[in-house]
Amino acid sequence: MTATVYAVANQKGGVGKTTTTLNIAAAMTELGRAVLVVDLDPQACLTFSLGYDPDTAEPSLNDTVVGRASLAETIIQHGELDVAPANIDLAGAEVTLLSRTGREYLLRGELVDLLESYDAILVDCAPSLGVLTINGLTAADEVLIPVQCETLSHRGVAQLLETVGDVRRLTNRGLEVRGLIATMFDPRPRHTREVLRDLLARYELPLIGPPVRKSIRFAESPTSGASLVGGNSSVPGSSAYRAIAAELLDLPPDPEVLAAAGWSDEQRDEVLGIGGGAGS
Ligand SMILES: Nc1ncnc2c1ncn2[C@@H]1O[C@H](COP(=O)(O)OP(=O)(O)O)[C@@H](O)[C@H]1O
Ligand SMILES: [Mg+2]
Repeated sequence: MTATVYAVANQKGGVGKTTTTLNIAAAMTELGRAVLVVDLDPQACLTFSLGYDPDTAEPSLNDTVVGRASLAETIIQHGELDVAPANIDLAGAEVTLLSRTGREYLLRGELVDLLESYDAILVDCAPSLGVLTINGLTAADEVLIPVQCETLSHRGVAQLLETVGDVRRLTNRGLEVRGLIATMFDPRPRHTREVLRDLLARYELPLIGPPVRKSIRFAESPTSGASLVGGNSSVPGSSAYRAIAAELLDLPPDPEVLAAAGWSDEQRDEVLGIGGGAGS
């Protein structure tokens, strides 16, 4: 196998990057895939939400940045999932990184030896377009963009796509934007549907899988792994993440999973409008 590397990126905080990373990863492990998640955010929310104390996670990505440990040496086995943890020192490491030759390529270089060990590597990016995120984009095959369908969402997406354009020109020619993932979605207000249609049409991007419904269960789950896929998993949001994972793996859509996600054909037509705008 050779892993596909996905960067989960949006420089806006709180749009669901970490939740998306963990739930796609969990859904892929359910499908029998070998998955590594990389916490590329100095706030270390992913590390924390899996139950690890970011203050004591040693070694962590920070040690990789300063050359004390390889990324492979930082990996923790968390059940079926492998995790490369971050801690708060990563913020300092980011500054160190800035003065390095080839600073954009650190993560890419570290992942080279790991590609054969995984089917998928998911990189949870920081809420910035700084050098760490550039590392994530430089290491990635595909970018997944979680968006909350709010009035100004498109501005963040525009900025991110500009950065993706730079990365393509300068450090990673093969980088592809796989599409948008609609997070914390409430299909009832007309407004959220309009924002989603506008985003998809404006940037000519596909929507990956069904929108992930807003659910209090996601907000409640940080200690249990911030992942609702696995264990208790009957909320629409977890089904949406299962469908998203299957789509990323190019598996055929499962009508039952789509229905459980609130994404029957009728529901989809209603949200996206007749005639779509859904991209390819
Ligand atoms: N589908 C959802 N429904 C309700 N709350 C959610 C959902 N997805 C994420 N959240 C919550 O929103 C907050 C921000 O999500 P997070 O994944 O940490 O965003 P980011 O990584 O982009 O900062 C978290 O408290 C998370 O639990
Ligand atoms: Mg996060």
